[in-house]
Amino acid sequence: MLSLEQVSYYPATASRPLLQQVSMGVKLGHMAVVAGASGAGKTTLLEVVAGLVRPSHGRICWQGKPMGQRQRHRRCGLVFQFPERHFLGLTMGQELRLGHHRLTEEHQSTVLTQVGLNHVSPKLPPERLSGGQQRRLALAVQLLGNPQVLLLDEPTAGLDWSVRESFLQLLGQLQPGRVLVVATHEPQLFAPLQPHCWQLQNGQLKPC
Ligand SMILES: Nc1ncnc2c1ncn2[C@@H]1O[C@H](COP(=O)(O)OP(=O)(O)O)[C@@H](O)[C@H]1O
Ligand SMILES: [Mg+2]
Repeated sequence: MLSLEQVSYYPATASRPLLQQVSMGVKLGHMAVVAGASGAGKTTLLEVVAGLVRPSHGRICWQGKPMGQRQRHRRCGLVFQFPERHFLGLTMGQELRLGHHRLTEEHQSTVLTQVGLNHVSPKLPPERLSGGQQRRLALAVQLLGNPQVLLLDEPTAGLDWSVRESFLQLLGQLQPGRVLVVATHEPQLFAPLQPHCWQLQNGQLKPC
C-alpha cells in the first residue's frame, strides 16, 4: 500500500503552499484518480510521490514504512504529460536503452509485450509511431524499472476516442500487483476501471 500522510509542499518560489496536508492511501492492485482543474497541484503531487521533489512536511510510505527520496524514485515510475515530446532515442529500441544500457533482448521483449508493442519493429523511430503507440512506449520505458507504483500525468490528454479506450484497457491490465495513480482533469473516463477518486483543489485533497 502506498500512503501519503499529511504531505505539504511549499517551495520558496511559490506564493502559497502547492500541497496542503495531503493524505491518501492506495492499496496494491488499485487505482487512484486525482482529479482537479489546471493549476490544482496534480503534477506537483505526482512529482513529490515520485521523489523528484522533497515535501516540506509529511511522509510518503510503502507498506507503512516511510520512503526517502531515493526509495521513492526507485519504486515509482512517472509517465509525464505528453511523454512523446521528450523522446530522445532515434529508434524505439534506443529509447528503451537510454536509461538501461544493459537491457537484454528478453527484457525488452517482455515490456514491449506488456504494453502491446511486441509486433512493432524496435528499429522504428519513435516519431513514426501513432499517438497511442507513443504513449505505450513511454509506459514501456517506465516498466523497465519494474515500478510497484505507476504514476500517470494526464495519460489520456490529446488521444482520440478509440485510442483512449484501448489505452485505458492497457492501464487496467497493468493494475494487478501495482499501485496506479492517475492525475487527470477528465476523471469520468477512468470510471470503468473503478478507481478511488480524489479531488485536488488549491493543493487540498478530498475524497469524491
Ligand atoms: N516549483 C514551483 N514554484 C512555484 N510555483 C510552482 C512550482 N511548481 C508548480 N507551481 C505552481 O503550482 C500550481 C500547481 O501546478 P501543477 O502541479 O502543475 O498543477 P496541475 O498539474 O493540477 O495543473 C500552478 O499554479 C503552478 O504554476
Ligand atoms: Mg499538470
